[in-house]
Parts: sequence; structure tokens; C-alpha cells
Amino acid sequence: MLSGYPTFKGQVLNGQQLWELIEGLEANDLLYYTHLLTGYIGSVSFLNTVLKVVEKLRSVNPKVTYVCDPVMGDEGKLYVPPELVLVYREKVVPVASMLTPNQFEAEQLTGLRIVSEADGREACKILHAAGPPKVVITSINIDGNLLLIGSHQKEKGQSSEQFKILIPKIPAYFTGTGDLVTALLLGWSNKYPDNLDKAAELAVSTLQCSCVLEYASYTIPFKEVYSLDWPLGKNWKALLQRTVNDYLSTGFDPQTSSLEIRLIQSQDDIRNPQVKFKAEKY
Ligand code: ATP
Ligand code: MG
Ligand code: NA
Ligand code: MG
Repeated sequence: MLSGYPTFKGQVLNGQQLWELIEGLEANDLLYYTHLLTGYIGSVSFLNTVLKVVEKLRSVNPKVTYVCDPVMGDEGKLYVPPELVLVYREKVVPVASMLTPNQFEAEQLTGLRIVSEADGREACKILHAAGPPKVVITSINIDGNLLLIGSHQKEKGQSSEQFKILIPKIPAYFTGTGDLVTALLLGWSNKYPDNLDKAAELAVSTLQCSCVLEYASYTIPFKEVYSLDWPLGKNWKALLQRTVNDYLSTGFDPQTSSLEIRLIQSQDDIRNPQVKFKAEKY
């Protein structure tokens, strides 16, 4: 999300520094964790240290759930050094409990070209065979819409339960949606470990609330927003109103910035989303 700003400061933690933090926790007997989530990682050395962390945490609690968002690129472009792809493919994917690539990342990890629903389902199967029992391809561009495909292989070697969620594509570029959807999938899967479809419905429904208001308030005139046939309830208008006010008071220019999702303002949609986007099982 920071990368969406004109400038940002601070230091990038390197692998050695991460490992020192782990050693500090270990020395105090504080390495018992139930979940680990990783997102953007910019170097091979850091990714290798993350792998060491996974191993370490699992030596303390073998049941650690590792949710990996293999952030590498989007829309046909890599935004990490190309050497990372192989490390994800050969070392990270095999130890992940859940993987949440976008279309491009799923292609990088499987070598498949994904242009259809069937390709997406096939990619999930290839990924299961490589390791993770849960795979969610968070978006595939098909015919101007987005398709999320989820797949849960409940027993190794068995076929997987798959589903899709169709998401009308909003013609805007958001930053932070991938991070949010992965975090929500982790949270809801913890609550519903055997219902990945339900976890995904909840996650997507939250996302769509926060996305819609951003786009609606910044780029289309107010009256058009109200006439949009969008599958959201009353709740939405209240949120929309809040975002519009917010926009007016800060003077934010939507033409020159990508749209950062309104996380804090959407707390209620995060805690208790109205499920407006239903999963369809295959
Ligand atoms: P990031 O670039 O933030 O890492 P990502 O490419 O990993 O994101 P996406 O699959 O693009 O993640 O988006 C995650 C979710 O956000 C999607 O499942 C969808 O619900 C929502 N989303 C993102 N962009 C749009 C859009 N243009 N219109 C509607 N929904 C969107
Ligand atoms: Mg994307
Ligand atoms: Na993703
Ligand atoms: Mg992403």
C-alpha cells in the first residue's frame, strides 16, 4: 500500500535482521504461533529466511498454518527479481497451507497460461500436487469480469472441492486489495476450516464494499452511483456518504493517485460483512 504514495521512508528489514528477531523471541520462549502470513517479499535472501522461520515455528508447533500470498506481479508483469519465482515454486509452495496467487502469479507458479475457468481449476490442482491443501486464485480476468477460483483438497491425493465467485470488475486500480483478501481468507478460514467457499464469500463481500465506495465516490458522479445496479444493500449508501465526505474534506485528487481502500472506515464490513457475493460449487 505504501508503494501507492509519492514518497515513503524507513528501512527495509533484511533476512539477517528478521532472524535476529526470531532468536530474541526464542530466547524468551515466545515462539509458539498458530498462523503465519506472508505477502510482498523483495529478495531471495529474505524469502530464504522466511522459509527458515516457517521451519522454526513448526518445530515448536507442528500445526502452524502458513498462508502465503506469493506476491510477484500482476497484469503480465513481474515486480520482484525474477530469481524469486523459482524459490517460491520449489521451496515455498511445498510448505504453504494456503496459497493466494492472482492470475499472473498462478501462471508463474504452474507454467500454465490461464485464460479460462478450466485453466484456473487446473492450476489449482497442479498447486495442490505441489503442496498447499487450500488454493485461492484471487482474480482471473475473464470477459471484462473477475473470477475468483477456490480449491480445497481435503485429503492428499484425493480430488479437490472447487468453487468460483464472479466479481463484476470495477474499472479502477486499487492498492492493498490483495493483502486484504488474503488476510480475510486467513481469518475466516480459521473460523470455518472446512468451508473455504464460505470463507471466500465473506472475504470478497468485505472487499467489494470497500472497493465500491472508493471508486464510486472518486470517479463517477454521485447520481450515477445511486443508479448503479450494484448488489449491495442500504449499508452501502451510508458508507458511500461517509467516503464522499471524507474525500471532500481532504481534497484528494483521484486522477493522480491509485485508490487506497478505506480500511478503518470499513471496519463494520470487515467484522460483519453482508454476504452479497455467493460461491458457486463445481
Ligand atoms: P495486489 O495487486 O493488491 O497484490 P492481487 O493482484 O494479489 O492484488 P487481486 O486478485 O487483484 O489481488 O484482488 C484481490 C481481490 O480484490 C479480488 O478478489 C477482488 O475481490 C478485489 N478487487 C481487486 N481489484 C478489483 C477491481 N478492479 N474490481 C473489483 N474487485 C476488485
Ligand atoms: Mg491484482
Ligand atoms: Na492475490
Ligand atoms: Mg497480490
